[in-house]
Amino acid sequence: MSSRRELLLEEMGLTPLWRLRKGQADSGVSAAEAQEVPAAARRGTAAAPASPPIAIDADERSANIARMEWPELRASVAACTACGLRKTCTQTVFGVGDEQADWLLVGEAPGAEEDARGQPFVGQAGKLLDAMLEGIELKRGEDVYIANVLKCRPPGNRNPEAPEVAQCAPFLRRQVELIQPRLILAMGRFACQTLLDTDSSIATLRGRVHRYQGVPLIVTYHPAYLLRTLQDKAKAWEDLCFARSTMKGSH
Ligand code: URA
Repeated sequence: MSSRRELLLEEMGLTPLWRLRKGQADSGVSAAEAQEVPAAARRGTAAAPASPPIAIDADERSANIARMEWPELRASVAACTACGLRKTCTQTVFGVGDEQADWLLVGEAPGAEEDARGQPFVGQAGKLLDAMLEGIELKRGEDVYIANVLKCRPPGNRNPEAPEVAQCAPFLRRQVELIQPRLILAMGRFACQTLLDTDSSIATLRGRVHRYQGVPLIVTYHPAYLLRTLQDKAKAWEDLCFARSTMKGSH
């Protein structure tokens, strides 16, 4: 391990947890062996208005978004006013990284720092995320794309609401289609429950390979939660090693 990396992990209070031990990374269950949960429709749709005209508009909007290439998708997110969040946030946070990445990391929504800088995971949680990635020999932007379920910051970092998720979901869905990642790492209860359309806890969803739009999906704790709950860092490390071995097994 380079001394820079050693220092970084130490600073984050992550040593000795975030180190790949020989054999550990490859000893997990492969995607084929792991139990799969069928992909479900996006979360929050049920909360959408039931009247036919609005439902047709929503379908048309989704269909339009599903045809967009990167530049149009980017512009469409930047111009979106489909829910009220754009009125209170500073800017949209589209996502960042390698547009052909094998790894797609999905969080919840921009926080204050992300809202100010227009990039996902650039605050304290982002620093931890970078250290976690480094622990499994990955780097932001190199074969990794990072996005959120919501592209706008909810005021005061409140939880996203179902109609907001319903409006934003087509953007993430299109990002997944364009990136075609080999694995999605869903971070935190909100991203996991949204992408898998379930109310199950992270504890129940961990350790298995799920699917979102046919792409293998593994769940783990949110970096911000890990900053508060040190005792779950070891579990998150297990999840990362599992994700890494699943990725290796899916060649
Ligand atoms: N938390 C998230 O879920 N996403 C971010 O981009 C930052 C913090």
